[in-house]
Amino acid sequence: MKVAILGASGHGKVVADIAEQCGYQVSFFDDGFPALNKLEHWAIEGDTADLVKLKDNFDCAFVAIGNNFIRAKKQAVLAKVGLISASLIHPSAIVSRYAEIAHGCVVFPGAIVNSFAKIGAGCIINSNSVVEHDCNLEEFCHISPSVALGGGTRIGSKSWIGIGSVTKQLIEIGESVVIGAGSTVVSNVPDYVIAYGTPTKIIKAVDF
Ligand SMILES: CC(C)(COP(=O)(O)OP(=O)(O)OC[C@H]1O[C@@H](n2cnc3c(N)ncnc32)[C@H](O)[C@@H]1OP(=O)(O)O)[C@@H](O)C(=O)NCCC(=O)NCCS
Repeated sequence: MKVAILGASGHGKVVADIAEQCGYQVSFFDDGFPALNKLEHWAIEGDTADLVKLKDNFDCAFVAIGNNFIRAKKQAVLAKVGLISASLIHPSAIVSRYAEIAHGCVVFPGAIVNSFAKIGAGCIINSNSVVEHDCNLEEFCHISPSVALGGGTRIGSKSWIGIGSVTKQLIEIGESVVIGAGSTVVSNVPDYVIAYGTPTKIIKAVDF
């Protein structure tokens, strides 16, 4: 099985490693091509337009771009030409048989996705994070390393939960929210804000 990975960054390296461990043969594409033509030992074979032209050479694609908004746009471009987005789960991750993970998601090493959690398309579940039972994540969220989401946490689309943060059970976080690193979220957070701290306070509104 051949996967085209779009996005040759540090995040892309981890995604490639996971894809290989899932049995895929990896090819990289990045919009920095041709100036950017190599990532570690992987050759970069072109940009988004090249990938679209070469789409029939691949079984599936994966957008490995950390920015939630850019990842969503690129995934839409690839979907439009019929490139299927793989979902990649590292062998050391623990995913309940009762969890649902949509296409285009990656689950990093050591992450846990527990029973009846639902994860929308294009989400990143980063290293050692815990998505507890009954959590509901809309599309294109990024759950950073070592985040713990308490049971039943709901997160709106394109929100980014910073490294090491925790949410109390049943918390609702809106769409396009940034929760800063190391935060403790004990009350609901509305759409389009940056919030951080323990307990989390809304710092400012944002319009991405
Ligand atoms: C919240 C965040 C997006 C704000 O970024 P920013 O707007 O560039 O903020 P700055 O770095 O300019 O910091 C502004 C102020 O907020 C404070 N601050 C920033 N993030 C904070 C956080 N998470 N908790 C507490 N204070 C924070 C800074 O100390 C600084 O305070 P000061 O004005 O008193 O010096 C960023 O700090 C953050 O936490 N990002 C998440 C990083 C992450 O999880 N990375 C993992 C990737 S896998």
